[in-house]
Amino acid sequence: MDNPSSNAESPNNPLDTVKNIIAIGSGKGGVGKSTVAALLALGLHRKGYKVGMLDADVYGPSLPKITGTEGAQPIVGEDGFIIPPEKHGIRIMSMGYLVPPDQAVIWRGPMAQKYVKEFLERGQWGELDCLIVDLPPGTGDIPLTLAQSVPLTGAVIVCTPQDVALADAVKALQMFRKLGVDPLGMIENMSFYICPKCGNRDEIFGHGGAEAAAKRLEVPFLGSIPLNVAIRKNGDAGALLENFTQAEPAVVQALEQMVDRLIEQLEEKQKNAPSPPKLNVD
Ligand SMILES: Nc1ncnc2c1ncn2[C@@H]1O[C@H](COP(=O)(O)OP(=O)(O)OP(=O)(O)O)[C@@H](O)[C@H]1O
Ligand SMILES: [Mg+2]
Ligand SMILES: [Zn+2]
Repeated sequence: MDNPSSNAESPNNPLDTVKNIIAIGSGKGGVGKSTVAALLALGLHRKGYKVGMLDADVYGPSLPKITGTEGAQPIVGEDGFIIPPEKHGIRIMSMGYLVPPDQAVIWRGPMAQKYVKEFLERGQWGELDCLIVDLPPGTGDIPLTLAQSVPLTGAVIVCTPQDVALADAVKALQMFRKLGVDPLGMIENMSFYICPKCGNRDEIFGHGGAEAAAKRLEVPFLGSIPLNVAIRKNGDAGALLENFTQAEPAVVQALEQMVDRLIEQLEEKQKNAPSPPKLNVD
């Protein structure tokens, strides 16, 4: 898998050892983007891919909590390079490691952008197949400039089934397209609920809207993740791995399918991209 937008002019850029940079975005906040980003990263890692994660949500970093790495410290080497903390063999960089959890980051957009670039350019990511970037929600200034300043292979859009969330997800998708970033697919999170007592399946927010929207917009659909208590609890406890090892079969199956479909898309993209398009990296 090669990053079609990797920058050939800067051979000493640590990002040159990163084959694919995949942004996870959403139209709305709180749809489970960070959770899905972390699950995708761990899922890819479990399939043998070398994976890193960058939390580009400077104002609301949640990867330290979700991955159970709160309080971890990146190591800054003499050469100025930053070695990100590691969990499950995945290097993770987040603003959350630099600012106490109850303190707000009060920078303006350009500062946030500068920090993300620092993490990217000075992060010792090593040889990676995929760097998963958790973007801030929405299509405002910050996700937009971040999406532009990171040389992306493609973007994955996470949404929930409600109409309002879907409408915003479609906007996010259009934003990526306008920036020349390929949509790698859409994921419907909190898509259905299976009652742990009787096994009854409920569609609390509706169901299938993202798949229909993906079809209409000619974007791959990567799967539906159930609304599930274990996912929420594991998120709060930083027990990411348990979603794969101890969750109900319906959850595990949904996660595995999502990861497999993303891998399919990455392989497809590599096959079809012999002459990579040049991205506008500021
Ligand atoms: N499929 C799911 N089932 C149950 N809970 C979930 C699911 N997905 C996410 N959650 C929970 O929903 C909450 C929000 O998730 P998360 O922080 O990943 O959303 P987000 O889209 O990244 O939010 P933000 O816009 O603030 O960045 C968390 O408590 C998380 O554990
Ligand atoms: Mg988030
Ligand atoms: Zn029931």
